[in-house]
Amino acid sequence: MRHLMSPLDFTTDELDKLFDLANEIEANPTKYAHACDGKILATCFYEPSTRTRLSFESAMTRLGGRVIGFSDANSSSAAKGESVSDTIRVISCYADICAMRHPKEGAPMVAAERSGIPVINAGDGGHQHPTQTLTDLLTIRTLKGRLNNFTIGLCGDLKFGRTVHSLIHALSRYENINFVFISPEELRVPDYIIELLKEKNIPFEEVVRLDEVLPSLDMLYMTRVQKERFFNEEDYIRLKDFYILNTEKMQLAKEDMLVLHPLPRVNEISVEIDDDPRAAYFKQAQYGVYVRMALILTLLGLA
Ligand code: NCD
Repeated sequence: MRHLMSPLDFTTDELDKLFDLANEIEANPTKYAHACDGKILATCFYEPSTRTRLSFESAMTRLGGRVIGFSDANSSSAAKGESVSDTIRVISCYADICAMRHPKEGAPMVAAERSGIPVINAGDGGHQHPTQTLTDLLTIRTLKGRLNNFTIGLCGDLKFGRTVHSLIHALSRYENINFVFISPEELRVPDYIIELLKEKNIPFEEVVRLDEVLPSLDMLYMTRVQKERFFNEEDYIRLKDFYILNTEKMQLAKEDMLVLHPLPRVNEISVEIDDDPRAAYFKQAQYGVYVRMALILTLLGLA
């Protein structure tokens, strides 16, 4: 039995197979409409989320399966004091596969150890968000045709943004990727990630100003300042509108630069960019469903 805790749980060859399957599902959705008939996905969300949860629900439903679950810790037995380990043992009796989001780093891993069914980490605190990374990689591979040889800017909350942490880990395995980290001083990439890049001799640059580096980027991954992980409101208010990507800034960017964002967006990308052909964030949300369909099939051994 296989779980997904980190994007590194799959080799790059396995990821290629997964992305091929996702592209095949996109081209031929009816072929997969009953692939999960009779199967049940449990979505155990201990932290609010609409997007990721609905993306999983949509994926399983489009495969012909069914979904059970909870979307808030207060409506689960966690409110009565049940441990994640006990919850997953019970859920294993009810469902065939589980997607779990939890505010505590490592909680899905603890669950996986006791689980009788595959567990997918759907985001654990400020740590990892592997299915968002699969989404990001599939989007880049499909729209750019490759996962190597590019310069990517990651902008915004690089400290608390788990999608950023997972994406850097995942991209560190591909050739000739240049990272440009764009953030206010307080929201820089955590040291353990910087160390990893240094160890692997992967080039990176840390800057504060977006306009300085925009012309050099092949893609720009914007992120929201993670309000829920701040210790005080004042800091959040001071930093939340630090970056706003607008039409004027986009004039500095390459003509084929991709703009990515895991969503939800707050103010960091002006809505005037939405119709720019370089804006790929809504397509990215669509790829998120295909890649989750491919992942469910793969972990259930149905691929
Ligand atoms: C991200 C998350 O939950 O970390 N959102 C998502 O998965 N769609 C990014 C975010 O909340 O900013």
